[in-house]
Parts: sequence; structure tokens; C-alpha cells
Amino acid sequence: MTIRIETKSGEFELAGISNGNILFSGLAQGLTLPYECATGTCGTCRARVMSGTVDIVWDAAPGFARLKRDKGDILMCQAHTKGDCVLRIPSDVGISERPRPRQFSGEITKTRLLTHDVVHFDVALDARMPFDAGQFVVLAAPGMAGGRAYSMVNYAPETDRLSFVVKKKPGGGFSQWMFGGAVQGSRLRVFGAVGKATFRPAVEANDLVIVAGGSGIAGMMSILECAIAAGHFERHRGRVYFGVRTLADGFYLSELSRFSIAAKGALTISLVLSHEPPLRDTHPEFPEIRLDTGFVHEAAARGLEAGAETALGFVAGPPPMVDGAIRVLLKDARIPARSIRYDKFG
Ligand code: FES
Repeated sequence: MTIRIETKSGEFELAGISNGNILFSGLAQGLTLPYECATGTCGTCRARVMSGTVDIVWDAAPGFARLKRDKGDILMCQAHTKGDCVLRIPSDVGISERPRPRQFSGEITKTRLLTHDVVHFDVALDARMPFDAGQFVVLAAPGMAGGRAYSMVNYAPETDRLSFVVKKKPGGGFSQWMFGGAVQGSRLRVFGAVGKATFRPAVEANDLVIVAGGSGIAGMMSILECAIAAGHFERHRGRVYFGVRTLADGFYLSELSRFSIAAKGALTISLVLSHEPPLRDTHPEFPEIRLDTGFVHEAAARGLEAGAETALGFVAGPPPMVDGAIRVLLKDARIPARSIRYDKFG
């Protein structure tokens, strides 16, 4: 099957597609197609079917909300090819120079409960995957429709072992499955690596400001591990604001503490508790970690002193938190929009 794609910057042809996800097929062939979440929520991967037909995988995907479906608009991340078709994308598209994502298969090799509702898990891949710190993959579990996006917690330029964190969510199919019992040894389909909220220390000489809520810390752990490995904090500063509900909800604290020690004073970590006031200024077990109270973006607004405007901002968490943190970085810290990268998840 062949998909012809008309864009503002020219036409492209995807050949040899077999009943596959259109977005993934295009990214795997190196096209810089528009996307953010890759899982049907953001609406960024909009295209219009000019001829031919496609199958929609998740008809109720929230990303369809602002699309004109009667005119043939589709979300490429939720569409599979049925035969030859022509799509029109209302933006520029080019050929990526970064490693191309592709389909892998993997096995869950280890799980570790971090708090009562957060679990860490490792996946061994059947081949090595190159990725940038801050990227994510789309995981599909056996017997479960569709895929879920999870950021890598670990970092290596290329590896066959990926680590993730998942928070228990009522009604969340994948998270319920993870918490439901014996998942070790289960096989997963893994598409990646994808995502543009990345950090590449070789080309980015900036301080870092990181604001994360709950499991949004996942990709930030990868960014910090990458920064430490590259010696980034020998020349630049970093500030991390990590929001959780209570002291008992904090996780990856020994890792964050280790990063702070390795950065020799250039990396400050604040654990911000939204639902209880801290009894002291620093964590009782990890004195490198400061304690603060309130919403995480408010703590960031209090803590960001003058001089943050040349920093790179990274934000991840639930949508209201991300929106609040982006406002703080833009207005209080005066970081330009082009230097703020974010990952919103519902
Ligand atoms: Fe977000 Fe498709 S990329 S809806």
C-alpha cells in the first residue's frame, strides 16, 4: 500500500505500508510529521483524507474534538491504512536527521513498587534503541487496545534496557494491569523513540529549570542522568521542582539526591508537598533535597531568581500543572517560549 502525503513543503510518498498506524509509518520512514502525544489526546497530528479510506482505531479519542471529521479530518496516530490513500497535512514536513523510530518488542523484566500507587518497571528490548533524553515510547500490552505513552526514566544514547514509571489511575487500563499482579515476563510492543521535549547537552549550553508533577518526573530523570553524564553541571546550574501530595508520595529521591551530590552544589532539588506542610526544611533521609509546600509551579515562581531567562525549561505533569508552570517560566522567569519544552498527560 502507498500513502501520498501533500504538505505545505511538498509531497512525500510512503510505500510498502502494511495495514499500519499512519503516524508511526511516516515517522519510521523519516518524515517530520506533526505530533505531540502519539496517543490520541492532543490533536496535533491532524491530516485530511483526500482520497482512499482509513480505519480509525480509537473513535472517541479526545484529540478529535476540534477536527472536522465530516470533511475527512483524521488523527494520524489513530488511523490505520486500508489501501492506497492521499492525505493532506496543513504544515511543513521534511526529512529528519535524527535516528528513526521503529517497532520493537520487549519483555518486562523487573517491577519495583516505589510508593503505594507508583511502580517502576524495566523492559528488555529485542534490539538496541537510540534515544535522546526526554523522549518516550508507545507501549502496547497484550489484549489491550491502543498504546500508552511512557517516558524513559533512564538514559543511554543507545540501549536495549528501558525503565519506566507508572502511576495507578482509576480506570487506567495499563496502570490497572501493571498493579494487577504478575506482569513480569509479559511481552510488550514498543514503538519509539519519539517526542520532541528533549535535552542534548552537546548542543545546548544552558542552565536547566525542571518542573514536574508526580510521574512527570520520569523524563526529567533521563534528562538529569544525561546532564550528569555529560558534565553539564560543571558549567551550568540546574533547579528541579518536583511536586507530590505528601512526603510519603516522594519517589526516586535517592537517585535525585545522588544527582545533586554529583553536581557539587550546581543542582538544587525541591520536593514540593501540595497536601501537607513539611515539618523541616530538608528531607529527613536525603538532606540534599529541600522541602517546600503548595503547588509545584508556585514553589518554582518563589524560587526562580533573576538570571533564569537564559535557561532551558522542562515541564511535565497533568495539564493544569503544566499550564501553570509554563506561565511561571514565561512570565516570572522570562524564559522565551522557544526554550520551554513540555509534556502534558491526562
Ligand atoms: Fe496527539 Fe495524535 S499526536 S492526537
